[in-house]
Amino acid sequence: MSIVILAIESSCDETAASVCADGNILSNYIANQKVHEQYGGVVPELASRAHMQNIIPVVDTALKTAGCGLNDISATAFTQSPGLIGSLLVGAQFAKSLSLALNKPLLAVHHMQAHVLANLIAEPKPSFPFLCLTVSGGHTQIVLCESPINMKVIGETIDDAAGEAFDKSAKLIGLPYPAGPLIDKYAQLGNPDRFKFPEPQVAGLDFSFSGLKTSILYFLQNAGTSNIYKEEFMATEDEKKKFIDDNLNDICASIQHRIITILLNKLKKASVQTGITDICIAGGVSANSGLRKAFSEMGEKHKWRTFIPAFEYCTDNAAMIAITAYYKFLENDFADLSVSSSARAEW
Ligand code: KG4
Ligand code: ZN
Repeated sequence: MSIVILAIESSCDETAASVCADGNILSNYIANQKVHEQYGGVVPELASRAHMQNIIPVVDTALKTAGCGLNDISATAFTQSPGLIGSLLVGAQFAKSLSLALNKPLLAVHHMQAHVLANLIAEPKPSFPFLCLTVSGGHTQIVLCESPINMKVIGETIDDAAGEAFDKSAKLIGLPYPAGPLIDKYAQLGNPDRFKFPEPQVAGLDFSFSGLKTSILYFLQNAGTSNIYKEEFMATEDEKKKFIDDNLNDICASIQHRIITILLNKLKKASVQTGITDICIAGGVSANSGLRKAFSEMGEKHKWRTFIPAFEYCTDNAAMIAITAYYKFLENDFADLSVSSSARAEW
């Protein structure tokens, strides 16, 4: 008998549902919440309300696309943590209610583990143990993955996440939220070596992006003349705007280039330290075309086997929750109805 899982993801501002049968994704449906664009970032209360409006049609579409009815479901799964608590609760309550009504088991999934296991959705798959650089709006981690349920974070950011570095840089440039994909687009037309931003010196396998943000702030305030704060360098608002308009592609390419080199230099270090050469990337920032290309080139150079999820499985989605839930199901790693959602969660 097949194991059919209905999975729900609602940790931030995407309401998503997916059906997976024996580890094969049958549907993956996402409703984006446009309501946040006017505020320049996700507004938690509005996100929760939008999840409540979206969840029934989203689950319905995922079931119909998969050709399933509720009675075909073997278990329901949901994102338990981390995320916005009000958003998480909508998905959790919905999955728990279904589990209770259908009398089927419940699976609670960690969002960051699910990003890693997005690499197990399609062939070719990495062999265990593998390393995964997980780069999203809230996290930047190097994960050592021994098995689908046995993972360890061996490096992580000590301040901002890589996605935040993209989003905050974009805000300084004046690009609208969510701006990671816009930096990606302009960077493709620019010269990545035109402007130099510093690489932070952080011990071990950890990352830091807050210094880069400050450096970009001063660089823009000074209309490109310097990366340090000095009164005499300060440009007027008009001069700053003109500098950005005239150099947008090169500024985006140079910022993106520095974020990518920070990420990949640590990943290379992790491979040398562990001796592991099956290496994946995951999370929203792994949709970045510059990172995907540089990662593949680094893999060829160092004889790694590299793996990148399809675009639809990089940013937040429920297929990654479904595949993780499938492996938990195989291990009988079920949750009971008392399981609580958590905004922050240790591994
Ligand atoms: O994994 P994700 O969808 O949500 C979180 O769990 O945080 O990641 C969202 C992050 C945002 O910071 C967004 O700007 C970034 O991924 N992102 C990108 C690209 N697409 C999404 N960053 C750079 N280039 C992209 N193409
Ligand atoms: Zn995510």
